[in-house]
Amino acid sequence: MAWIFDLWVVSLLSALADPVPDGVLDMECHDRSFVIAVDLSFAGDDARFEAVDGTGAYAITEPYAAKCGYTVTVSQPSGLVELRSSYFSCHTDKQDDRVFTFSFKLLVTRERDAVYTLNKTCSPSLAWSPREVSCELNYMEVLVKNQVSCAAGKKDDNWNILRHAHSSSTSDWQVMFQRDEDEIAPTSLSDARKQGYAFEVTDGRFMFRAPYGQPDSFIAMVNNIPVEVVHATLFSRQRWLVVMVDLVAACSTHQGAYEDGGHVVFKTPEAPYPGPDVTRIRVGFDGADVVTENETVQIRIPLDVKGGLRKSFASGGLYEFYTFHLDLEQMFEDDEAETRLRLRRILTTPLLPRPLFTQNRSVVEERLFQVYLGDVPEDVRLISLRLNGREAPFTNSCSFADVAQPAHGHGYLLNVSFDDPAVTQQYYEVYRTLQYSVDINYTLSVLPENELYYHSVSVTALAGPSPPVLDAVCSESGIRFNADRWAFDFLWSIGVGSVTLTPELATQRGYEMRNDSQRLQLDVPVYSQGFRYEEITLKRFLGTFEILIKERLTSAVQRSITKTCPFVTSELIMCSTDGRMTVVADLSLITPSGATPSSSNLLDVFCGPAEADDARALFSFPLNSCGSKVKLSKGNVIYRNEIFYSKNSDDSEEANERLVVQCTYPLEGLHRLFSTYRFESDDPGTGSVSSGRLTAGSGAAALRGPVATARALPTPPKTTAARTAAAPVRKRLGSNPGVHYIRVSKHGKPHPAVRKG
Ligand SMILES: *[C@@H]1O[C@H](CO)[C@@H](O)[C@H](O)[C@H]1NC(C)=O
Ligand SMILES: *[C@@H]1O[C@H](CO)[C@@H](O)[C@H](O)[C@H]1NC(C)=O
Ligand SMILES: *[C@@H]1O[C@H](CO)[C@@H](O)[C@H](O)[C@H]1NC(C)=O
Ligand SMILES: *[C@@H]1O[C@H](CO)[C@@H](O)[C@H](O)[C@H]1NC(C)=O
Ligand SMILES: *[C@@H]1O[C@H](CO)[C@@H](O)[C@H](O)[C@H]1NC(C)=O
Ligand SMILES: *[C@@H]1O[C@H](CO)[C@@H](O)[C@H](O)[C@H]1NC(C)=O
Repeated sequence: MAWIFDLWVVSLLSALADPVPDGVLDMECHDRSFVIAVDLSFAGDDARFEAVDGTGAYAITEPYAAKCGYTVTVSQPSGLVELRSSYFSCHTDKQDDRVFTFSFKLLVTRERDAVYTLNKTCSPSLAWSPREVSCELNYMEVLVKNQVSCAAGKKDDNWNILRHAHSSSTSDWQVMFQRDEDEIAPTSLSDARKQGYAFEVTDGRFMFRAPYGQPDSFIAMVNNIPVEVVHATLFSRQRWLVVMVDLVAACSTHQGAYEDGGHVVFKTPEAPYPGPDVTRIRVGFDGADVVTENETVQIRIPLDVKGGLRKSFASGGLYEFYTFHLDLEQMFEDDEAETRLRLRRILTTPLLPRPLFTQNRSVVEERLFQVYLGDVPEDVRLISLRLNGREAPFTNSCSFADVAQPAHGHGYLLNVSFDDPAVTQQYYEVYRTLQYSVDINYTLSVLPENELYYHSVSVTALAGPSPPVLDAVCSESGIRFNADRWAFDFLWSIGVGSVTLTPELATQRGYEMRNDSQRLQLDVPVYSQGFRYEEITLKRFLGTFEILIKERLTSAVQRSITKTCPFVTSELIMCSTDGRMTVVADLSLITPSGATPSSSNLLDVFCGPAEADDARALFSFPLNSCGSKVKLSKGNVIYRNEIFYSKNSDDSEEANERLVVQCTYPLEGLHRLFSTYRFESDDPGTGSVSSGRLTAGSGAAALRGPVATARALPTPPKTTAARTAAAPVRKRLGSNPGVHYIRVSKHGKPHPAVRKG
């Protein structure tokens, strides 16, 4: 069996070796007791203590504590488990009533089993009075200095006890209790100890301790205040001398009362028994109001006094309660001996409702619901919010802040935009206004137990509708505009430039529109009408598309959404409103062997490409320059130029191969056709690139790529030309990857709506 014993020793030692973590244990010497405080979060509320002395370890259970001078309290508001041990407790090591050592074990079962063996030595600085009475939470204790005990013999009612003392055949100490007028037969100390009493004779003192509610104690009403009294007389006959000690404890058992208006009142008699002169009252509470009237001491404690503890409690509603650890000391003088009475009580208020309040601080002009939730206690936290039943995802249109509130905990300020998706809207046609409303349901948690409490409030506001918000994203082939919420679509229309978007217009221009009353999605392919282009290089260019949200009734522009996306350049031609032609063309089919696109040129052979690679060249030039030819035809102005290789022009048939590039502008849209300095068109021109011979310029065939073919072309003349010329071009340039016809809107001249928005 030896190994079992060893194992036990090893595990015990390893448990003993662990020190208590820093900051969770506090051991203090108070005037009349050791005070050991352990964090609840470390020990849990089922932590246990054992008192230790040379004879062993003694579990501090409830009855044992009351008998032996220990008090254990678990306080949620303070977050502590507290063990108080009287300096005269059963297992304290006492030296000369001056130095006291208390050894104990702390047993923690939470998370892991652990035993901590600890001790504390105290030498109280407060001198002992000849008589001391302690009214603890669970017991009464009396200490009497052995020189003063004779004084009790003066009283008449003690003759009876003297009689018992003389007739007693034993010199052992005996005890006799007095209860009201009854006299109770004396018993031996050992019998009395079995009944829960504790007696001790130290070098200088007699000590007597009784739990509350013993059969030998009684309740006396003193000035209408219940006082529990225990009166024991110890006696011993030693030869001709009777030694007699009168030990009386009287403790107010008033529970404290809550008074409306925020006070807790505790009452105790000015003197617990008639006779003594009251010399001093001290209350261990700054801010408590102490009044002595009709021989009664009344202590009024305001709820918000420093040193009070409050705790929130959620159960249906939100409540709070306060607890106060009251220490009271009264000094009396009688028979020329001083008595010190110390009383300790924990006063707790009933559960008091703790209403929260909400304040509507919404600002209609800012289209913002702002709601303040105030008077939230410190130990209550907001953990989530529901807006109209939906979990609030805190975003740009919904945010909250924790705000300190002087004297009354804290508050939460919530901002929710009228346009947040969670807000409901209802349209009142007659007034042309919307009613916005949101039900807010706050989920609050009471710490540390995480008990939940819900608080809800509804706010509404009337305001004009706000135009829908669209977002735009780039794709490889175009731009997608998207409105997640397209409510009250009868109020709004979408404009592209000066025209209004309809399903017919979308079909005509190649836009793809999906529209139901909740969502709107518009896909605009690059090169479709309405696009604007910038920063064209051989690699990439920027395409910009703008849509306008207009109020349907007035056509007033309410909002504009402009999106610019980069696109990969293959081939394109652009005829700008300020009179510039920009062309990226694939020259591979007209490039003579040995030449590269960089050596190509326009009709004016000194106009070369701005950029070129193996197959393509980029030209950008004013319409009126580089040898362009101008022609008027059917109400249009046509600017035409040609890309070719001039060096080898006579060598072969291929040398005459060239691309014809042209821009067509409707004549009525041109303001400054003949101005040398400036060109200005209402709309961008229609571009085309075709192949042909130099001599066949007028009959040049338009080249249309697959992308363009798939779409209806914006202007009839162009379409006709393309159709008639398609066949011969295809025959020759069958593998041409295609050229796109594009339109460009005005540069540097924003639409009036943009400025407004
Ligand atoms: C009291 O505790 C200390 C460590 O805190 C230890 O060194 C000492 O031996 C203990 N004394 C007794 C009497 O247990
Ligand atoms: C004190 O006694 C008087 C007379 O009995 C009574 O009117 C008064 O209310 C008492 N005061 C208190 C605080 O009980
Ligand atoms: C709420 O909105 C107001 C007014 O716009 C602003 O001052 C405040 O900082 C906002 N608070 C939060 C928490 O977003
Ligand atoms: C708030 O939310 C809680 C939990 O979802 C629910 O039990 C409660 O009924 C809600 N209160 C209101 C007024 O809707
Ligand atoms: C809240 O505040 C807004 C703005 O001041 C106001 O229009 C509305 O009537 C108020 N009341 C409620 C119950 O929402
Ligand atoms: C979308 O559809 C609604 C009805 O279904 C119609 O009133 C509205 O004009 C449409 N929007 C557009 C931009 O065509």
